[in-house]
Amino acid sequence: MLRRSQLYVPGNNQKMIAKAPNLGADSVILDLEDAVPDGSKDDARRTVARLARELDWGNLELCVRINPRGSRHFAKDLAALSGCRRVDCIVIPKAEGDCSRIGSRTRKNLMPVVESAAGLMHVREVAASKRAVAISYGAADFAASVGGTVTAYTDNLAVKTTIVAAAAEAGLDAIDNVFFDLDDDRGFRRQAAEARALGFVGKQVVHPSQISLANEAFSPTKKEVEWASRVLQEMGRAKGKKLGAIRVDGSLVDAVHSRLARDIIERAEEAGLLH
Ligand code: COA
Ligand code: MG
Repeated sequence: MLRRSQLYVPGNNQKMIAKAPNLGADSVILDLEDAVPDGSKDDARRTVARLARELDWGNLELCVRINPRGSRHFAKDLAALSGCRRVDCIVIPKAEGDCSRIGSRTRKNLMPVVESAAGLMHVREVAASKRAVAISYGAADFAASVGGTVTAYTDNLAVKTTIVAAAAEAGLDAIDNVFFDLDDDRGFRRQAAEARALGFVGKQVVHPSQISLANEAFSPTKKEVEWASRVLQEMGRAKGKKLGAIRVDGSLVDAVHSRLARDIIERAEEAGLLH
């Protein structure tokens, strides 16, 4: 499943939720947590449950971000979502350990968000949660939790590499953090390209204008697809000659490049770029 763009929509905003199915995002995350003020939580829960059922979501991945464990909204959120058949996945904010119980309780996939010091220190337990399909990163909350600045953590290589490694070890998708400046497309593209280079497969987004930027940034480029096809073709020929390592366009190519090439072709197929 593609998770190049995951659009957050405030759970109490009917107008925005009604638009969300048709904006081209791979996943939509209806939010019950920080985008909803405390006095509107009950209303948001009802709105999310109703619109999850009533709207035609096509085949996009429909997620709901609940309030964190320990908050007075947590139990109500889980109870409401257990009955929402169309909701595929629960986004768990401030995950700091094994989240399997949320999955067994609701029978939904899970997407924990690592966004605290404890979350990062326990990221392997978080990633090993049963029913987890992806793991994402929240830079602003993380900065707050360690007493740093948001700018220091939106592009922090050490944190991002740790998250991507934990996700890969557990076989999960790694999803990059939100880019807050809604008017800076160039900055978004740069951050997305860097995340992709590290191994992230998508990005959380907060505005419709960021969806196509993310979809593009996390799809293979034409050049990559051409390279991958050529590598697979040349490696196929080499195998017949009992060669494991060959020269392609002046560079060494061996089994690791075949694996990378197959991955590119698979992602290009999923993104509909090969038809
Ligand atoms: N989902 C669906 N539609 C959205 C949207 C979203 N996240 N953000 C904006 N839109 C729609 C608006 O309704 C508007 O539609 P219209 O032209 O038909 O009226 C259009 O896109 C343009 O919106 P714009 O006026 O540029 O946005 P804004 O300035 O009113 O709002 C935000 C900016 C950031 C407040 C808003 O994008 C938002 O609430 N984003 C999600 C925040 C969130 O969920 N955060 C939690 C995770 S960090
Ligand atoms: Mg957060």
